[in-house]
Amino acid sequence: MMAGCSGSQSTLNPASEQARQIGGLWWLFLIVCGTVWLAVVAMLAAALWRARRGWVPTGIAFPPPLLGNLRSERRATRTVVAAVAFTSLVLVTFLAADFLVSRALAPPSTSDALTIRITGHQWWWDIRYEHSQPSKLVQTANELHVPVGRPIHFILQSADVIHSFWFPNLQGKKDLIPGQPTSLWMTIDEAGVYRGQCAEFCGHQHANMRLLLVAEPAETFEPWLDAQRQPAREPTTESQRRGREVFLRSSCVMCHTIGGTPAQSRVGPTLTHFGSRQTLGAGAAPNQRGHLAGWILDPQRIKPGVRMPPNPLAAEDLHPLLDYLESLE
Ligand code: CUA
Repeated sequence: MMAGCSGSQSTLNPASEQARQIGGLWWLFLIVCGTVWLAVVAMLAAALWRARRGWVPTGIAFPPPLLGNLRSERRATRTVVAAVAFTSLVLVTFLAADFLVSRALAPPSTSDALTIRITGHQWWWDIRYEHSQPSKLVQTANELHVPVGRPIHFILQSADVIHSFWFPNLQGKKDLIPGQPTSLWMTIDEAGVYRGQCAEFCGHQHANMRLLLVAEPAETFEPWLDAQRQPAREPTTESQRRGREVFLRSSCVMCHTIGGTPAQSRVGPTLTHFGSRQTLGAGAAPNQRGHLAGWILDPQRIKPGVRMPPNPLAAEDLHPLLDYLESLE
């Protein structure tokens, strides 16, 4: 059972300060409630066992012997008072623990936070790294990179219906509500790749609304962010050049951006650095040439209901296009 609870998409494998707090609270509740449940079941079993042996409590014997009745009544009162006191103690402990964890989840007082705006779409994630200088904004999709040890402030919003942003290893769920941005903080303390999932049913491909989060040291995160700020790479081979032409003259430009080219539509995920991402279709398939070809030709086969239409390209157009998209690192 525990093997299924470890890994990159598990609340029992916390990797951030906030998830550790929530995990601690969960264990406290589990252990206390589990112990109480076992005690209740044990008492029930004992009572049933005594009843089977024909034992009748003196308190309800008829006619009641007066002295025995008084003694058992006093014992019952003591037991009830002790049980009420114990229950109150447990509830107050839970309340205090819950309060302390809520405080620990509050936004930290820091000016050093990284602000990332996440916009949920049916069924993918738009990601924007905010910056006071507009030229330093970074826009990407479905794959987050963040530095370890630095507070991250997510601003969550939706472009259509309610979605929910959830990285089980890192924080609790937070809904993305149209017209009502919400906020979520986390400080990740373990480098790694974590899987996130939309956690609010949002239509046909809700299950294929995934995202990846790569938590890495600042030494590798900063170069990644700098690289994402650059416009798309210029084609270096004849085939890549032809691939870009295919992209720009087909319906791709109606929905996608490739920085540094005339393709600037924001309907679908930006593809400026598409080649550097690990998945396509918001986690619907790995970002490999064969999957990418299938995705471009007929995305509905991989992700039925996806907003992307089929693109019946001829082989002499498809291969250069694949070469070009793969080169966009
Ligand atoms: Cu978006 Cu479920």
